[in-house]
Parts: sequence; structure tokens; C-alpha cells
Amino acid sequence: MINGGYSVTDNRNPTLAKPRILITGGSGLLALNWFAAARDSYDVVLAFHERTLDIPGATGCKLALDSMDQLLAALDAHAPEFVVHAAGCTSVEGCEKAPNLAHHVNVVLAANVAAACKARGVPLVHISTDHLFAGHEAMVSEEVPVAPLNIYGKTKAEAELRVAEACPEALVIRTNFYGWGTSYRRSFSDVIVDALRQKRPITLFDDVHYTPILAESLVDTVHGLLARKASGVFNVVGSERLTKHRFGQLVAEVFGLDAAPIRRGALSDLPDLVKRPRDMSLSSRKVSAFLGRDPGPVSEHLYRLSLQAQRGLALELGKL
Ligand SMILES: NC(=O)c1ccc[n+]([C@@H]2O[C@H](COP(=O)([O-])OP(=O)(O)OC[C@H]3O[C@@H](n4cnc5c(N)ncnc54)[C@H](OP(=O)(O)O)[C@@H]3O)[C@@H](O)[C@H]2O)c1
Repeated sequence: MINGGYSVTDNRNPTLAKPRILITGGSGLLALNWFAAARDSYDVVLAFHERTLDIPGATGCKLALDSMDQLLAALDAHAPEFVVHAAGCTSVEGCEKAPNLAHHVNVVLAANVAAACKARGVPLVHISTDHLFAGHEAMVSEEVPVAPLNIYGKTKAEAELRVAEACPEALVIRTNFYGWGTSYRRSFSDVIVDALRQKRPITLFDDVHYTPILAESLVDTVHGLLARKASGVFNVVGSERLTKHRFGQLVAEVFGLDAAPIRRGALSDLPDLVKRPRDMSLSSRKVSAFLGRDPGPVSEHLYRLSLQAQRGLALELGKL
């Protein structure tokens, strides 16, 4: 099938076919962890931008998110049960250096994906961030007005509005996650594990608080929200607020690694960095009440991260 410059061949046996998910930002950290978490129940289509990957068990396609023709053709060709929009300019420093590009990628492309999903009646999960606030308040709920400090946060905040305008039924997920990364995209947890295994000093902020969640747990939770036809903004984060330094210590504990290389650092000692919130913690009260379950403590998520490695996921993704 060829349409609007988008081509795909579907060789699936319709009687054996699983439902499909289409994920934008297919080469990214979240998309690949989503694929790993969902592949037993779903056929996963990874929509690529510049970096394309050949991953056993995944369908890959090049998809220009600035082409409405290609977006609609992709939705028609793959008929996904839902779309996850995980593409983005995710570097805080990069967004500050290239604000127009950040706006195009984070806002314009998100609005395009939302308009295409609306036009085809396909449910959309838009991935937002915990980086939307000034950081003066802890465990922020979905009702608190946003107050982003930098271009990354501002573009992600505007994207939420544009997505809601184009597709009011969209599920907008505010989060901060970790999982196993690739050779070209390491997760925060990878950076810590790598340093501790190599006994290399690593400095972690003890004046920055957040509520991280394991990507696999984020995926479980979002699938639960979709099953209950949720829409609007949900914080999907861990239930525990902690510093980046404490997170590092927990990684060491759960992975049985010596924590001695971890040094205590402070964001306030680095005035040249792009301005960022010191407290990014979000409340998971709304999602917990909606689903009747709590995301669980960080140590439990880290234990699941270690189980993923034992099952080969760290190696599988690390080879990419
Ligand atoms: N990582 C976190 O902890 C975190 C925290 C909060 C929120 N988030 C949000 O979660 C989402 C996923 O983050 P991530 O860390 O998985 O991202 P990532 O690893 O940085 O990957 C970003 C993806 O976006 C794609 N992309 C970049 N420019 C594009 C364009 N012009 N058109 C289409 N695709 C483009 C990249 O493809 P190419 O490499 O081929 O360009 C890549 O696949 C983002 O919305 C991010 O804001 C992440």
C-alpha cells in the first residue's frame, strides 16, 4: 500500500494477529521499553525519524510526523488500537540552544499526531513530562497551573494544550521514567549502573527531588488507563519522592554494587546549567484512585529492572 509517500506491506495472518500499537519516537528510550513491555500482547509498530532500527519482533517504519498525509496513511495501514506519541526533543540543553526546533518537534508534531488520531478516531497517548513547574512545591497534582522554567518545559506545556485542542479525548501522561537503554541512549539508571560497575566516580544531586517510575510500570499503568477509557491529564510516576542521590544509592543496594563511587552534588553549585526545577515530584493520587492501585516504591521498581536484565533485556537493548 502506498499513500502520501508512506508505504507498508502487511503480511500478518488476520486470524493470528494481535492488536497493534503504533509508537512515534521509535528509536527512543521509552518507545523501546514500551515495545519490550507490550510485545507479548501487542504487535508493536515503531515509527522512526532519522535513526532506523531492525528489531526482531517489531515492525519498523519511517514516518514524517510533519506530513498529515503520511500520518493518516500510517493509521490506515496499521490500524493501531492506540498510538503512543513518544517522539520529542528531550534534551533540556538542546531545546535551549535550538528553541525553534524544540517548538516544531515538541509542539507542532504533537499537534499533528493528535489531529491525525482525531481524524481516524484512534485513541492517543501523548507523553508529557514532570518538567512543567518551577519546583517550589512537592508532589504536584494535575490541577496545579504549569509554570515551566525553560524551553523544554515551555514546549512540553504548550504541547499539552495543543494536543487537547486537536484531540480532546487524548490521554496526556506526565512522567519521569527509567529503563534499559541503548548504546546511543542511556537511561539515568544505566548511567549509574555503568559507573558503579566500572567503579567510576559519579556525582548525583542531593538537592533535586523527583518521583521516577520504571518504564515497564508506566506502560502497565497507561494500558490500565486505556482499558478504562481514561482521557485528560494523568501523572504516572512512582509514589516515592526522593533525590537523585538517594536514587543512586538505591540502585547500588538493589544491584548489589558498591555505592562508594557515588558523590553528593548540588544543582545549586552549577549556575551555568539551563535553569531547571529543584523539585519535579508529582502526585500519583489521581491515577491510584482511578485504577485502585499504587505504583509502588522505587526499590520494588529497581528490583523489576534487575529482573529485566536477568531475562536479557539490558543486553538486547544495549546491542542497539
Ligand atoms: N527520559 C525521561 O526520563 C523523560 C522524562 C519525562 C518526559 N519524557 C518524555 O517522554 C518522551 C520520550 O522520551 P525518551 O527519553 O524516550 O526520548 P528519546 O530517547 O530522547 O528519543 C526521542 C525520539 O524522538 C525522535 N525524534 C526527534 N526529533 C524528531 C522529529 N523531528 N520527528 C520525529 N521524531 C523525532 C527521535 O528520533 P531520531 O533519533 O531518529 O531523531 C527519538 O526516537 C518525550 O516526549 C519526553 O519529553 C522523558
